[in-house]
Amino acid sequence: MKKILLTGSNGQIGVALAEHLRKIYGANNVTATDIAKVPGSVSEGGPFAILDVRDGKAIGELLASTGADTLIHLAGLLSAKSEMNPQLAWDTNANGLYAALEAAREHGCAFFFPSSIAAFGPSTPHKNTPQDTIQHPATIYGIAKVAGELLCDYYHLKYGLDTRGVRFPGLISYTAPPGGGTTDYAVHIYRDAVKKGSYVSYIGKGTYMDMMYMPDALDAVVRLMEADPGKLVHRNGFNISAMSFEPEEIAASIRRVIPAFTLTYDVDPARQAIADSWPDSLDCTAARTEWGFSPEYDLDTMTKDMLEKLPKA
Ligand code: SER
Repeated sequence: MKKILLTGSNGQIGVALAEHLRKIYGANNVTATDIAKVPGSVSEGGPFAILDVRDGKAIGELLASTGADTLIHLAGLLSAKSEMNPQLAWDTNANGLYAALEAAREHGCAFFFPSSIAAFGPSTPHKNTPQDTIQHPATIYGIAKVAGELLCDYYHLKYGLDTRGVRFPGLISYTAPPGGGTTDYAVHIYRDAVKKGSYVSYIGKGTYMDMMYMPDALDAVVRLMEADPGKLVHRNGFNISAMSFEPEEIAASIRRVIPAFTLTYDVDPARQAIADSWPDSLDCTAARTEWGFSPEYDLDTMTKDMLEKLPKA
């Protein structure tokens, strides 16, 4: 990667990734885009443009004017928000991806697509979920992710486009908050722990999901995009995860730093149903062996860092 165009830059991953890529590749070589301009590091730390990803012509024009060799396509609605408006979710997540892939094809750009644990469903084996297995999700978000993985594979097969991607687990970070996902509780719990000393979880006791700390997610994107293509057996939808926990375990980890922290529950049936349809833990062997995925943070090292870095007020 030398010159990068990033979509969905105002989101939880986008804010952190724009900063990370600008540090590595130079601020002027990373153009961040999103549907709106908001004050902050994304729009002020380097080039920024307003972009609706459903507008393929506009994506193409930006690829041409920035001279980008890589398109990192993050724009999309998260799982819970998608269920509230499936039409908008498909338009943004599926049609937006198609528009971005077509623009990348016309300009010969490498392409990154973030799939998700949501690409799995109730009939997928839930424990140690294999890289290649049943994918029959029950959410519009997950259906668009499966279609996206297949479409990215197809563009590689048919046009030789250098498409690559991972299945992100829940991502935890202290910068931009996530907006409308199912795994978001694992971010909110830290924010409330610091501010109030307690948290009410919308995800029930005993619900395991895969998770990862943002620095490991950022490292994974760069590692995969810079990996030797000769070593890639898969291209898109690599399983990646650093840990799997349920609410009581993250609460116990927080209590090792804030002993008085309390966790109670008010389960949201809609998000609980989504969580129940997702894997408990992923098998990440393909990512480890094909491009050296190796996350650094476990639950306790992440907890310590989160609680140190989150603003107290
Ligand atoms: N973290 C996402 C969500 O909860 C899954 O990709 O929607």
